[in-house]
Amino acid sequence: LKVVRSVAELRALGIAGCGFVPTMGAFHEGHLSLMRASAAENDVSAISIFVNPTQFGRGEDFERYPRQEERDLSMAADAGVQVAFVPPVEELYPAGDATRVEVPGLSEPWEGAHRPGHFTGVATVVNKLFNIVQPKAAYFGLKDYQQCMVIERMVTDLHMPVNLKFKETVREDDGLAMSSRNVYLLPEDRRIAPLLYEAMQSAARAARSGRPVAEALSSAIASLTGAGFEMDYLALVDPLSLQPIHDVVQDARLLAAARLGGTRLIDNLAV
Ligand code: PAF
Repeated sequence: LKVVRSVAELRALGIAGCGFVPTMGAFHEGHLSLMRASAAENDVSAISIFVNPTQFGRGEDFERYPRQEERDLSMAADAGVQVAFVPPVEELYPAGDATRVEVPGLSEPWEGAHRPGHFTGVATVVNKLFNIVQPKAAYFGLKDYQQCMVIERMVTDLHMPVNLKFKETVREDDGLAMSSRNVYLLPEDRRIAPLLYEAMQSAARAARSGRPVAEALSSAIASLTGAGFEMDYLALVDPLSLQPIHDVVQDARLLAAARLGGTRLIDNLAV
């Protein structure tokens, strides 16, 4: 595995046309499944590890976000990755950096409403990374469903020559969606955390079998709140526009975010 830290070094490798998995590190099986897919489907497979400051709001976890570079690099090598781009912050945001990429509409509800500016930071850094790495294919996890939709909009609107590959959420045995932030969960909260996905599945089942969507959602919210979650949102949305819907349609998506102790969990599923 070749590790490079500057744009110049990366360019000198001549890996345009590779498969690419952008990450913030702290790898789990979800990241590894993306890397394995990229390695299987491309001659050269690259990753980036960059905890992107512009996608964290004030008071969020930028400083304490888990950083474990050595472990990550050895996991990436085992998953078949050949190149890791691991720039310092000044490499991607040098003095004077000012340009931001905004994706209005899709960035605004849900995560965007709870984390103002988050998707501008994501779109900006993904755009920079695509320009630097020039991948043919880029891999993202559907756990961040809204992020996938925002990036797809950006790639379409800016005619970026990248094939986006969205891969299913990888879950722990008890159903909890894998996330680098799960390490923040206290043991008692970790025990309760799988209830989020369970309640979402029950709500999806109820809505599919004809229970009014509003009722299915409010009963899931009541049970989660009773179990100790503070809900940011639970909503049934159109899979492309992300606008709330009141009837189950093909590929409707259930989106959720909730706080448990000090940890924020997000999840989604196709209904
Ligand atoms: O999903 C992530 O890990 C990040 O949002 C991404 C896409 C690497 C951009 O920083």
